[in-house]
Amino acid sequence: MIDEAIAQAQFEHLFNAKPSFAVRCPGRINLIGEHIDYCGGLVMPMAIAQSTQGWYRFNGTSQIRIYSARFDALTSFNPHDVLQPPKGTWEDYVQGILNLGAHRQAGCGFDLLVTSDLNAGGLSSSASFLGLLALVNHHALTGARIESRDVSQRLTLALLCQQVENEFVGVPSGIMDPASVLLGGLMTLDCRTLKFQPLQAIPETHRLVIMDTGVPRTLAASGYAQRVAEVGAIETLIANRDSTDITSRYAGLATLPDDQMAKVLALLASDPLKHRARHIFSEQARVVQAALALEKEDMGVLGHLMNESHQSLSVEYDVSCPELDLITQLSRDSGLALGARMTGAGFGGCAISLVPVEHLEGHQAWVTRAYRQQTGIEPILLASEVAEGANIIAL
Ligand code: GLA
Repeated sequence: MIDEAIAQAQFEHLFNAKPSFAVRCPGRINLIGEHIDYCGGLVMPMAIAQSTQGWYRFNGTSQIRIYSARFDALTSFNPHDVLQPPKGTWEDYVQGILNLGAHRQAGCGFDLLVTSDLNAGGLSSSASFLGLLALVNHHALTGARIESRDVSQRLTLALLCQQVENEFVGVPSGIMDPASVLLGGLMTLDCRTLKFQPLQAIPETHRLVIMDTGVPRTLAASGYAQRVAEVGAIETLIANRDSTDITSRYAGLATLPDDQMAKVLALLASDPLKHRARHIFSEQARVVQAALALEKEDMGVLGHLMNESHQSLSVEYDVSCPELDLITQLSRDSGLALGARMTGAGFGGCAISLVPVEHLEGHQAWVTRAYRQQTGIEPILLASEVAEGANIIAL
């Protein structure tokens, strides 16, 4: 993360002008409801204080110039540029938003400097970057900033971000991340209907601690796509063999009534599809229970559900890794946390842990020491803070 004054000075140096707006788009953790957003499930994401930040101005030309402080690279586009095939770099996100976001207008160019403190895996840095670009692009095209209460426009942008990841970047991700970072707060989101329910924050007596394993999410893209394909295979199997009307991945494998779930499990004789379905069905039920526990401020139950969720993701869905299993186990073994689980796509990156405030320091010290001893890696533990959705401020 760079300091505001440094960012503005760097902006002036790069673009020979002062920025007119600052923009911020948070990352997110997901309390529970993992790997079920792409099959219509209920999820419980929370936008966090770590974010992607940007400074921009309209430059009065058609050119769009974007500097990434993270990659120390400047890229520029014109609305009439021919669409380049994805290159596997951060510029794909920019091209995707500009093209799918219909930036084909002349004279709506902007200069943008972007930086981020979402360095750990699993905190949704991609959706955060996309959400920021989508907001700025929308502002440049329409001259209007999307208000935080304008939920419907924010969800429309979230769908655009998802489309960019799916169709341009090539990751078949669900709607959870862009919806969370654009809407902000803690919520349950029904990924089938896009109805969401803002939730009261975790009681002040407890914190959700982000635990970065320090392990890059090497398998994340390919492993993720494989899981989405497996869900597709289950749905195809059902559609071909049975009268249950699950034909698309958004129709809601996660939301089947109990009797249909039992039918599906009976139909799936073969591993690993049966394991995948078991995770999806049980995770969906856990989210419903977790929302109730949160309402009753029953942190013990919430912690227990987090533990069960991790177990299911590790054993049935096979998206954990030894370090995520270890750090969550250490957190539980410390006796100072109520529950722990991986968060996000998995295969490395971050886990979260539910810790009473009086044990924050002890938990951090215990987990850090034990994890370091067993892996040689220094983990980073940080108590999370809930954040608002992406916003733009005039400077
Ligand atoms: C990634 C994806 C999300 C979601 C999670 C797993 O973060 O972007 O859509 O599928 O993994 O819950």
